Amino acid sequence: MTFRILDVDSTHCLIAGRWQRNASGETMPLINPSDGKALCEIARGGADDIDAAVAAARAAFDGPWGRSTAVERGRILSKIGALVLENIDALAKMEALDVGKPLAQARADVIALARYMEFYAGAVDKLHGQTIPYLDGYTVYTLREPHGVTGHIIPWNYPMQIIGRSVGAALAAGNAAVLKPAEEACLTALAFGELARRAGLPDGALNVVSGTGAEAGAALTAHHDVNHISFTGSVATGRLIQQAAGQNVVPVTLELGGKSPQLVFEDADIDAALPFLVGAGIQNAGQTCSASSRILVQRGVYDEVVSKMAARYAALRVGPALDDLAVGPLVSMRQKQIVEGFLAQGADLSRAATGEVITQAPSGGAYVAPVLFENVPPDHVLAQDEIFGPVQVIIPFEDEAEALAIANGTNYGLVASVWTRDGARQMRLARALRAGQVFLNNYGAGGGVELPFGGAGLSGHGREKGFEALYAFTALKTVAAYHG
Ligand code: NAI
Ligand code: MG
Repeated sequence: MTFRILDVDSTHCLIAGRWQRNASGETMPLINPSDGKALCEIARGGADDIDAAVAAARAAFDGPWGRSTAVERGRILSKIGALVLENIDALAKMEALDVGKPLAQARADVIALARYMEFYAGAVDKLHGQTIPYLDGYTVYTLREPHGVTGHIIPWNYPMQIIGRSVGAALAAGNAAVLKPAEEACLTALAFGELARRAGLPDGALNVVSGTGAEAGAALTAHHDVNHISFTGSVATGRLIQQAAGQNVVPVTLELGGKSPQLVFEDADIDAALPFLVGAGIQNAGQTCSASSRILVQRGVYDEVVSKMAARYAALRVGPALDDLAVGPLVSMRQKQIVEGFLAQGADLSRAATGEVITQAPSGGAYVAPVLFENVPPDHVLAQDEIFGPVQVIIPFEDEAEALAIANGTNYGLVASVWTRDGARQMRLARALRAGQVFLNNYGAGGGVELPFGGAGLSGHGREKGFEALYAFTALKTVAAYHG
């Protein structure tokens, strides 16, 4: 069974501007997590296909694409963005079926993908170098140059957003890209390849090869002719990718998730915070790198926050992606098992509330009812490890010092937020929190294409999104001219 994606066969790969079967011809099923049934077959690409894709990217980089101007690349990205928006209904439905994402959340991802194209289209011709004062008789200036061939390993949780921020910035900067989507969800990656082709992206500037991580993914990250690797996913795979990049001595950006806290102080506007406290935890069924999985609450408002969050949890309904409820299934039965394993480890904890899987939900779906735990010790495994499911823990604290110690007391450091009306406390904590992004009186899980994003510790390193990504996808050359 194949799937037609904008007239493209789901078992094909995009290599050198042409949709084609993978060398082995082997395929693998793509499962719809809402019912557990196979949606279609996709190509099980391997090392041969990656070789061909990297060679095509290299040829594009050595050819007209590598010599294109920022204005020309910006125009193509603008056109891709427009085509993405024209196809919003088809893309959102595809993503909902593939990832299990409720339709409204899938639509938001389509819009984010278009926004990345718009942002980088508009930004790239503002990527300037510098002139540097130097010795008498010299003029020194810097050039920002693309790395060459970039490899992009994409996870299944936000395929469109992560393609947008990673491939969008890389192409804008003039690189030629090879994209390896996740085996659990790759339809929108194929669709993106086709829309880019239709927008006039030259052959080979973007290649898309589906396949497993161990086969296509490992072949791409170990490839000697790849000049930069960008990865979003698990810590375990991130370690392997950094090792592979180390072998070839190429730069790597790792975005590896987190255990992001929201700190709620007694002087906060609790009702304004509530939608963010819950929403940032259950968005995409909690399968969000920047999910807020820890809610730290000061004693004086603890009972109020617990009871108000619990009321929202009790109203959460879980069902098929196309029903568009608050929560869909997890991406796979494997992910459901991971999350249920964590829930079993939380058997000793107090549950403030749970959501509910609707009775009509197909029995083969990867559904997990959301769980809100309260009064959780900060060193409990559920307060330390990334769960990647609709599960949040509430942790009480006495004062600012204790809140900060708990907030910074995990191995991660991706996002944090502070809810307080005290401006001095906002400024102190914004500096002291270990995180790549700090939100004050809001929380931006996944949002904000303009905002540089990335982590510390096990959350990874390097920055994506915003203008920063254009720096990451370029290398600086210093030219020193002696003219006397
Ligand atoms: P994963 O890190 O194994 O998969 C992500 C991507 O890496 C996929 O495209 C996969 O094919 C690829 N990959 C896997 N092994 C590879 C290798 N050896 N070389 C190159 N590429 C490889 O994550 P997985 O197994 O899907 O999920 C496990 C856990 O990882 C989740 O429970 C969650 O905690 C975390 N995760 C975090 C994400 C984030 O956004 N930070 C996204 C996905 C998963
Ligand atoms: Mg994996």
